[in-house]
Amino acid sequence: MRVLKSRSVKPRPISKLLMKVGSSRCYVSSCRAVLLPRFGGPEVLELRSDVPVPDLKPNEVLVRARAVSINPLDTRMRSGYGRSIFEPLLPLILGRDVSGEVAAIAASVKSLKVGQEVFGALHPTAVRGTYADYAILSEDELSPKPASVTHVEASAIPFAALTAWRALKSTARIAEGQRLLVIGGGGAVGFAAIQLAVAVGCHVSTTCGNRSINRVMAAGAEQAIDYTAEDIEAVIKGKFDAVLDTIGVAETERIGINLLNRGGHYMTLQGEAAALSDRYGLPIGLPVATALLLKKRIQYLYSYGIEYSWTYMRADSEGLHEIRRLTEAGKLNIPVEKTFSISQVREAHEAKDKKTILVFLACLLYTRMLHIMWEFCRCKHSVSCRNL
Ligand SMILES: NC(=O)c1ccc[n+]([C@@H]2O[C@H](COP(=O)([O-])OP(=O)(O)OC[C@H]3O[C@@H](n4cnc5c(N)ncnc54)[C@H](OP(=O)(O)O)[C@@H]3O)[C@@H](O)[C@H]2O)c1
Repeated sequence: MRVLKSRSVKPRPISKLLMKVGSSRCYVSSCRAVLLPRFGGPEVLELRSDVPVPDLKPNEVLVRARAVSINPLDTRMRSGYGRSIFEPLLPLILGRDVSGEVAAIAASVKSLKVGQEVFGALHPTAVRGTYADYAILSEDELSPKPASVTHVEASAIPFAALTAWRALKSTARIAEGQRLLVIGGGGAVGFAAIQLAVAVGCHVSTTCGNRSINRVMAAGAEQAIDYTAEDIEAVIKGKFDAVLDTIGVAETERIGINLLNRGGHYMTLQGEAAALSDRYGLPIGLPVATALLLKKRIQYLYSYGIEYSWTYMRADSEGLHEIRRLTEAGKLNIPVEKTFSISQVREAHEAKDKKTILVFLACLLYTRMLHIMWEFCRCKHSVSCRNL
């Protein structure tokens, strides 16, 4: 297979690695696709040339894929995240985002026509993903592609931006003049959230890595705190109406909760339903997750007066059209780090895994440093106590 191109795209690398895909046929019964036959490392991914393309259901659209992006969900699913749901359904096709052209439409599809350029994203639990020459999405998961961006740029946007949209618009219902804190503004979802909130007229603060600071400030954030070097609570001024926590570990949850006004919304992307179901099986894991969520909701409501939510990506045609409008107006973009050919899918996953580990290590190192500093202060404190 020919490598189409490998490039670094403006303005600085972040989260998105993309594969350019495509075929010259317009109607197909089988096509190339990347299969996940079992869970594991990047080596388990298999590019096959004769994967059947199922018949379309009445509301579905066949999209000839020109580019698909690699989200953290893809690498996590490949490693076994969600196995309680997906294991009986193997082999899967990974991939949520796609940008391409409409190759065929089913009977009840009214808003799109064959040949039209579109972009969109599948629901997190879709089994036939987009790592294929031909992807199938429902009509409400697609929108005309913004003309101002390439397929590569377009395919980086929908899944991340729709996740941010759901949290900010459906859950927190952000409004002009409100204050929003985005924990993890350097990532795709966080960066989309900053741009969506700025477009609404919110005042946005964010935490991100050093290399992301210029980018998030240029996107309209009013304050950017380097989580690898600064004490977030010491640096941030005032309280917030909403916190979107894309990292969702205990420390960021504690910080987010403490920085909220009464009546504010704390939203984490790291809901525990899938992890608990993977650990205990669906019949036990799901009720345990529901009980845990309920407990936290009650606890935070009564102790802090705030709304606590696990938030998930959902297809939302109104959201996708607004995302398209903002992209076209130059107000929303997700930088692309590197582009791979579909035949390089293993390398693409390796690169995404490596980046995740690096960020994790940087974060761990900083947390460890804070811990050592805390121990040091405690030590000094106890010495002075003894001296008294
Ligand atoms: N619930 C859902 O439906 C849903 C949907 C989409 C994503 N997610 C999850 O949300 C998370 C983010 O997704 P994404 O697509 O935005 O990932 P991404 O583009 O890979 O971004 C990850 C970024 O997080 C930043 N980061 C890491 N640790 C941090 C910390 N302690 N504080 C602040 N920033 C930190 C890093 O930014 P810097 O480069 O600035 O260091 C890193 O680049 C992933 O875990 C993903 O699985 C959930």
